[in-house]
Amino acid sequence: MATMATATSSYDRMKEVKEFDESKIGVKGLSDSGITSIPRFFIHPPETLSDLKSSSTFTNIPIIDLAEVSSSALRPKIIQQAKDAARTWGFFQVINHGVPLSVLDETINAIKAFHDQPHEVKAKFYKREEGQGVMYASNNDLYRAKAAAWHDSLQAWMGVRKAKVEDIPEICRKEVVAWDKSATEVAETVMELLSEGLGLEAGKFKELTFSDQRAFVGHCYPYCPQPELTVGITPHSDPGVVTVLLRNHVPGLQVKHGEEWVDVKPVPGGLIVNVGDFLQIISNGEYQSVQHRVLANSCKEARISIVIFYNLNKWKGDGYYGPLPELLSPEKPAIYRNFTMQEFHDNFYSKAIDNKSLIQKLEIQN
Ligand code: OGA
Ligand code: NI
Repeated sequence: MATMATATSSYDRMKEVKEFDESKIGVKGLSDSGITSIPRFFIHPPETLSDLKSSSTFTNIPIIDLAEVSSSALRPKIIQQAKDAARTWGFFQVINHGVPLSVLDETINAIKAFHDQPHEVKAKFYKREEGQGVMYASNNDLYRAKAAAWHDSLQAWMGVRKAKVEDIPEICRKEVVAWDKSATEVAETVMELLSEGLGLEAGKFKELTFSDQRAFVGHCYPYCPQPELTVGITPHSDPGVVTVLLRNHVPGLQVKHGEEWVDVKPVPGGLIVNVGDFLQIISNGEYQSVQHRVLANSCKEARISIVIFYNLNKWKGDGYYGPLPELLSPEKPAIYRNFTMQEFHDNFYSKAIDNKSLIQKLEIQN
C-alpha cells in the first residue's frame, strides 16, 4: 500500500500534460508511434467510463429531406419536421441539402490529409490561441479539463473575426474556404425552417446575425489502443446557435436522448445539424441543446469530423441577449434571464467543454 501511495503522489499530472502539449505530437502522433497503453492524463474517472458503450436501441436521430424545401405545398411539412426534431432531439440529419457528394468527400479528404502529415510539418501550426485566427492543437480545453480526450483539431475562425486565408494550412485551404460557404448555405436553410417553426419570419435568425461569427473545426479521432479508458470528446452541449457537422464513416458520435446515449448512424451524403445553448435560450426553451459525446475510436482508421459552430455577432444595441421578446407572452414568460456576450465567453473559457452551466445559470427560478 505504501508504495502505491508513493506512486500516486509522485504523479505530476500537469507536468505530463505540459510535456505532451509542448511535444506538439498530438494524439495522432501518439497513436502513430504504436503505443499500446495511453498516458494517464487521458484516463477518465470511473463514473464516465462505466457509462461508455454503443447504444442498445436501433433508433436514429430524425432525418429531414430538404429536396422540396422551396415547394410551397411541401414546405409546411418540412418546417414541422425540423421543429419537432429540434424540440425532441436537438439533433437531426439533413439530406438532399444541395451540396454535392464530391464536395463532402473533398472536404473530409483535405482535413484527413492535414492530420496525416508528418509531425514536423503539423508542429509548425501547433498553438493555443482560442477565439481568433487559426489554431491547431490537441484538446482545445487541455488545461481546463480534468481528463484529456482522444482527438486533435484544426480550427479556423470565419465571418467577422475571420482568420487570414493564408494562415489556413495550404493542404486544406481551398477546401476549408469552400466548405465554410457550402455549410453556411445549409445552415441558413435550416435556420429559416427553425425560425418559421417558432412562428417567426423565415429571415429572423439571419437578421439576428446567427452566422456572422463562425468557427470551423476539423477534428481527427485517431485509433485509440485503450478506448475503454478514455473518450473521443467529453459529453457536452455546443454553446453557439447551431452546429453543422460532416463526418467520415467511422462511428463514434452519440446523442443523449432521455436517459440513453444513442449512436448517430451516418446517412450517406447527410449532414448532422444540432441546436446550441444560445438557440435554446433565444427560443425560450422551445428548442433543445442536447448533450453529445464521441467514443474513443477503436477502428484502425481515423475518424474525421468537420464542424462549423455558428454564433451571433450582435443583435441589439444594448449588448444584452436573451429569449426573443416576440416569443414571450403572459402564458409563456421568459424562462431565462438576459445576459451579455462577456458572460457567455467568460463561462465558456473558464471551464472544460462539459456541461450546460450557462443555461442553468440563466434559468429564472420561480
Ligand atoms: C464538437 C462535437 C462531434 C464530432 O466538436 O462540439 O461535438 O463528431 N463534435 O466530432
Ligand atoms: Ni459538440
